[in-house]
Amino acid sequence: MNVPFEATLEFAQAQDQIDILFPFRERFLFPQHEGKDVRYFCGNSLGLQPKSVGYLMQRELDDWAAHGVEGHTRARSPWLYYHHNFSEGLARIVGAEKDEVVAMNTLTVNLHLLMLSFYRPKNGRYKIIMEAGAFPSDQYALETQVKMYGYDPADAIIEIAPREGAYTIDEADIYKAIEAAGDSLALVLFGGVNYYTGQYFDLEKITTAAHAVGAYAGFDLAHAVGNIPLQLHDWKVDFACWCSYKYLNSGPGGVGGAFVHEVHGNNPEFFRLAGWWGNDESTRFQMKKGFYPQTGAASWQMSNAPVFNMIAHRASLDIFDKAGMKSLREKSIDLTNYLEWLLSSITHLPFVIITPKTQEQRGAQLSLLFLERGREVFDQLTAAGIVADWREPDVIRIAPVPLYNTYEDVYAFYEVLKNMQ
Ligand SMILES: Cc1ncc(COP(=O)(O)O)c(C=O)c1O
Repeated sequence: MNVPFEATLEFAQAQDQIDILFPFRERFLFPQHEGKDVRYFCGNSLGLQPKSVGYLMQRELDDWAAHGVEGHTRARSPWLYYHHNFSEGLARIVGAEKDEVVAMNTLTVNLHLLMLSFYRPKNGRYKIIMEAGAFPSDQYALETQVKMYGYDPADAIIEIAPREGAYTIDEADIYKAIEAAGDSLALVLFGGVNYYTGQYFDLEKITTAAHAVGAYAGFDLAHAVGNIPLQLHDWKVDFACWCSYKYLNSGPGGVGGAFVHEVHGNNPEFFRLAGWWGNDESTRFQMKKGFYPQTGAASWQMSNAPVFNMIAHRASLDIFDKAGMKSLREKSIDLTNYLEWLLSSITHLPFVIITPKTQEQRGAQLSLLFLERGREVFDQLTAAGIVADWREPDVIRIAPVPLYNTYEDVYAFYEVLKNMQ
């Protein structure tokens, strides 16, 4: 849109009227506050439920009731091949070939499984570079992986922190650390978008830098997938994993996803832990000895697809296909810029936006760090029917999600802060 912003309700409503994505909010169910839809800014934590989930769930229950075990082949979406339903949609969202992605397990499980393939320290190459302040589950995963091989996390894990006085990481420090670690470096494992600050990293440059010293590059894309368009294949990322319950609206604990670049996924000799679902589909039911991996990321699957945990994912990916990541990103940039612009006029509350200012370094999230009164602001927002996210000790995270947030939502958020004494 890129028209000059105005701090009025009329302006916000006019933007909604010309927003081509506006009708998509009709496809979601909103929690209620005093008889009205809440203004939901928590899509970076748990996305809203697509309305079609109930219908699709019932359809699967009916097929189970009607066919029992034969549903594996006779259900309207045969369960034997259920995971195939996600390859094309996920590939479009993360910029991959369809064989490079798979919907399976959950995020931390996938991180561990992929590290078992991509973190196999030997010959003095055992270090991992990660961001300081990564999501705790990632920290625990990496600590235990290095311990499993007998290393001390304090030595094996190099954390990159913001410089003194800064809130976000200077990317130059990542590249310097990679170069300094050199041939002791096994892996660079970063979040695509940091969950706390909302900083989005240059995944391509990190990957190139890791490869230059002979290390792999992998990413936790929990806060990037469905938020920012990605090109994992072209960027030559080695592996990535994500959850689907944030921007991908696939429900609490919904099925996770994984990407493995085809140079590894199509190499049957590349190590992966095996289960029958990763075996070549044409021989899977011959019940023979000897694992023969199918091609691609799907060969990392172990168990048969958890169909009921994938239904919301299907509903959501269908919406993403119709909206398209390009349009979503365009609106997302404008909506977040509008929020930032409005907030910049508020001077009577003591907060700073710790998310990077440039749109290339962030997605649909602003993190507001309150020097004081944070909890009070959060409570006022809640009382006004605005759902935001409180992170101890002092941060409010807000995600204007382009699929269902409006300019009016953003204006309403600003108005609560503006009207506080
Ligand atoms: C960045 C990040 N990593 C890991 C996780 C853990 O995800 P899961 O419980 O699906 O393993 C989360 C959850 O919100 C997250 O935000």
